[in-house]
Amino acid sequence: MEGKGCFICIEGLDGCGKTTQAKLLVNRLRKKGFNAVYTAEPSEGEIGNFIKKYCLNCEKRVSSVVEALLFAADRFEHVTKEVIPGLNGGKLVVSDRYVYSSLAYQGAAGLDLEWIKKINKHAIRPDLAIFIDVEPETVIRRLKPKKSVMENLETQRKVREVYMKFVREGELVKIDGNKPKNEVADEIFAFTLRFLKKH
Ligand SMILES: Nc1ncnc2c1ncn2[C@@H]1O[C@H](COP(=O)(O)OP(=O)(O)O)[C@@H](O)[C@H]1O
Ligand SMILES: [Mg+2]
Repeated sequence: MEGKGCFICIEGLDGCGKTTQAKLLVNRLRKKGFNAVYTAEPSEGEIGNFIKKYCLNCEKRVSSVVEALLFAADRFEHVTKEVIPGLNGGKLVVSDRYVYSSLAYQGAAGLDLEWIKKINKHAIRPDLAIFIDVEPETVIRRLKPKKSVMENLETQRKVREVYMKFVREGELVKIDGNKPKNEVADEIFAFTLRFLKKH
């Protein structure tokens, strides 16, 4: 673990409940007395905001190489300006998306996973990486009509495949995201507390 803190990331398809669950987790951890903070990628920095405009809320998807490079650049800023300072301050940093999103989305778009890992060398390893698993059909239904350029069924299926590869390899912990929000939150919270106790 970096510094005295703990770095947790929440991953999954668009609409699986990452933002909902990351915020609920932070609230619950705070109630338990932990100094927990919510953060997200793309970040609130200039590159993060550029990504939202140029890559996500646009008509046509940009080249996946450009996406991967921009996300990696934003991640460098996010990690150095927010995550590491938080960890050094003893905080429990909960990130709504992280490097696995780059691997899943740009990997699903056909880029080599090893190359994506290489350009993300600066992305420190999270202590705990949670994948909220929901069927692609369900997330498409949940998101209607608020969709970004990534959110069609075929893309989401491919993205889930890459996430599942990391679940099988033990890098991501899979949590069932099909249950009601509070039940999913209970499960994530219980798992996180067990993890914190062990480490
Ligand atoms: N467990 C759940 N069951 C049903 N709907 C959910 C659940 N979790 C989140 N939602 C709803 O799905 C939508 C997307 O949730 P959100 O947390 O924004 O997902 P993400 O950040 O992964 O895109 C929101 O309208 C949210 O209220
Ligand atoms: Mg979200």
